Amino acid sequence: MKAVIPAAGLGTRFLPATKEQPKEMLPVVGKPVIQYVVEEAVDAGVDDVLVVTGRGKRAIEDHFDRSAELEDLLERAGNTEKLRQVRQISELADVFYVRQGRPRGLGHAVLCAAPHTLDQPFFVMLGDVIVPDNNVLPRLQEIHEKYGASVIAVEPVEREYVSRYGVIAGREVEPGVWEVTDLVEKPPANEAPSNLAIFGRYLLTPKVMELLPHVEEGRGGEIQLTDALRDLLKHEEVYAVTMDSTGYDTGNILSWLEANVSLALETEEFGSQLRDSLERVLGGAVTESVEPRVE
Ligand code: UTP
Repeated sequence: MKAVIPAAGLGTRFLPATKEQPKEMLPVVGKPVIQYVVEEAVDAGVDDVLVVTGRGKRAIEDHFDRSAELEDLLERAGNTEKLRQVRQISELADVFYVRQGRPRGLGHAVLCAAPHTLDQPFFVMLGDVIVPDNNVLPRLQEIHEKYGASVIAVEPVEREYVSRYGVIAGREVEPGVWEVTDLVEKPPANEAPSNLAIFGRYLLTPKVMELLPHVEEGRGGEIQLTDALRDLLKHEEVYAVTMDSTGYDTGNILSWLEANVSLALETEEFGSQLRDSLERVLGGAVTESVEPRVE
């Protein structure tokens, strides 16, 4: 199975950090967001990844390429662990790139991948969404194999936040699996058909590539993937599965902060020190007070 990772958006919610820097390259506990996404794909057995990039996104291509100078330096310094880490990034998967000339919306970004995905089903993984448990793609695949249809990962969110997401309407056909009856992009809370928010992971059938060229600009003047999926409903069944794990939309500063804190707390390297720091900060102390001392 191939994966398409749209990463050509402007990241306006994260300005000024994203003025020249791709938001997909922002670090979460020392690793760029998009590396988590590619690793999640590889973990699910994907060996062919297509990243949709655009102007100002060169850092993404460089990140997944060899870095001869850096590797030489680490080799000479005998830093084998860092050398292994750096080499491993360029060996993760076959990563291909296509450019979206202008960020015309997620649907348009996915359409840019059509010459690569051809007549096969494919994953779409938003390049700024981290799903730490890596259990969503296998679940999408399982449901796709069972129903032979496109499958969307959804997460229940508080009603007040539904207007930030694409939301589905549906009928639960087995626990946590919904047959989708409608989709709405960023509905006002009182008009949302459910609180099941589309969360950045999809397994789509090739039919969607036939429909995308005919989708008109929707919310925000963009070509929305949600609108193409709505059209898809007229031709094929579409399913949604609820994710059991928390995902982080790191294009949103608060969610990026939360991703950093919660993932760092789980590491051996930073976990206990970060817990101490947070306790100090929450306790009102700005810095640890240490008495000056001269030996
Ligand atoms: P977002 O809607 O989060 O991206 O798209 P955005 O437009 O960059 O965000 P803001 O609102 O300005 O902050 C989710 C994913 O789809 C990609 C983005 O790069 C992101 O990884 N995307 C979005 C594209 O590839 N092309 C687009 O035209 C829009």
